[in-house]
Amino acid sequence: MFKTLFFLVRTRRSLLSGLGISALIYIVISTLLGVHYVTPECYMDIQINESDSVGLKKLDDVLLSEIKPRSGRSIFFHETRCHSNNGVNIFKLSARQACSIESAALNNPNLQVFIIFATPTYTSDDQKDPILDAIQSYRNVNLRYLNIWRYVKDTPIEKWFIKGDLFHSQFLPEHMSDLLRLITLYRFGGIYLDLDVVVLRSLELVPLNYVGAHDNETLGNAVISVEPRGIGHELTELLLHYYQNHYNADAYVSNGPSLISQVFFKFCNNSSVKKMQEDPANCRGFKVFNETAFFPLSWPEWPLFILPDFKNEIFERTKSSYLIHLWNKASYEDLFRVGTDNAYGRYAELHCPKTYAAAGKYF
Ligand SMILES: *[C@@H]1O[C@H](CO)[C@@H](O)[C@H](O)[C@H]1NC(C)=O
Ligand SMILES: *[C@@H]1O[C@H](CO)[C@@H](O)[C@H](O)[C@H]1NC(C)=O
Ligand SMILES: *[C@@H]1O[C@H](CO)[C@@H](O)[C@H](O)[C@H]1NC(C)=O
Ligand SMILES: *[C@@H]1O[C@H](CO)[C@@H](O)[C@H](O)[C@H]1NC(C)=O
Ligand SMILES: *[C@@H]1O[C@H](CO)[C@@H](O)[C@H](O)[C@H]1NC(C)=O
Repeated sequence: MFKTLFFLVRTRRSLLSGLGISALIYIVISTLLGVHYVTPECYMDIQINESDSVGLKKLDDVLLSEIKPRSGRSIFFHETRCHSNNGVNIFKLSARQACSIESAALNNPNLQVFIIFATPTYTSDDQKDPILDAIQSYRNVNLRYLNIWRYVKDTPIEKWFIKGDLFHSQFLPEHMSDLLRLITLYRFGGIYLDLDVVVLRSLELVPLNYVGAHDNETLGNAVISVEPRGIGHELTELLLHYYQNHYNADAYVSNGPSLISQVFFKFCNNSSVKKMQEDPANCRGFKVFNETAFFPLSWPEWPLFILPDFKNEIFERTKSSYLIHLWNKASYEDLFRVGTDNAYGRYAELHCPKTYAAAGKYF
């Protein structure tokens, strides 16, 4: 209760600015119930103290910006972590995350690439950030933030979201990310990618409406493509309904890969993953790629990407992959020296050359 009241005080100004009706409902309900939610302050559009933001520029809101995502013609990434410094979230992407973005932009020059931060995010004009420069040198890269309370509006998950269950999460950035990709695809269609991939080939000519298998039993949610209308849009509705009906605050994967798998089993007339792959007709036209397309290595195998001895084996195993997925949760701490003769380094050199060059000593 105490926390919530504190939160209310901090939020007063944003309520006045008209953004905060949903936030207000959230606060009133949680206060009435006396529930101790984790304060979602990170995700609020709080008016910051101007003296804290001198020389900083706020990214545009994806829903209000002049250049909006075109239906079905965009690739989306979400970054859901807060890097708060005196209440101001400063733009922050690792070199590997930037590599995902650059590889998508480089290999898909006719698609727009949107990186959407889940919090109001600032950059500074005199911030010397070679990684940021690298991705911003692509004309099809667009940096945005979203206001979650505005983003859920008029979607099938608005009412559920406002109740605040999501903020019970043990894995809030991950579960927020699992949700945001669904809302984004519901709103715009197109292609969602995780920030721990390297795109190796163009996706421009691959017809929308696909996902990929991790193995013969589960599908992944790191790559989801849907048409903005028809069956693709219908699928995003099913996914959003499943998300709220089966939301699990304590399980890392339950709102992600498990959700995709469960919805597809049903959507594909109870087919096995193998049957889904054999014939899109089993999934009402939706394509389910086998693991080679997006997940050529399973997560325990990820170190092979950075071990020089396995370079040629990895090239062989990924030669018809559209992208590689790096299993960030397992791999993010294991950087390697730039220039190491391994598969990841070689793919970075080819598919995110500017980021790789800007990364410094380690990647
Ligand atoms: C803004 O921040 C400055 C410096 O930290 C402080 O002196 C001032 O009181 C703050 N203003 C408000 C309205 O909080
Ligand atoms: C699925 O793959 C696992 C290991 O990769 C294997 O042990 C199992 O037999 C496979 N199941 C089917 C139904 O093919
Ligand atoms: C679903 O599967 C059943 C049994 O295999 C089959 O009879 C039916 O036609 C299938 N329905 C669709 C829509 O594919
Ligand atoms: C899938 O199986 C369940 C339980 O066996 C059944 O109730 C449901 O109707 C099936 N769905 C389809 C689309 O065939
Ligand atoms: C996946 O499909 C591709 C193309 O259809 C095929 O070449 C490849 O061998 C398949 N991979 C696996 C693991 O079945």
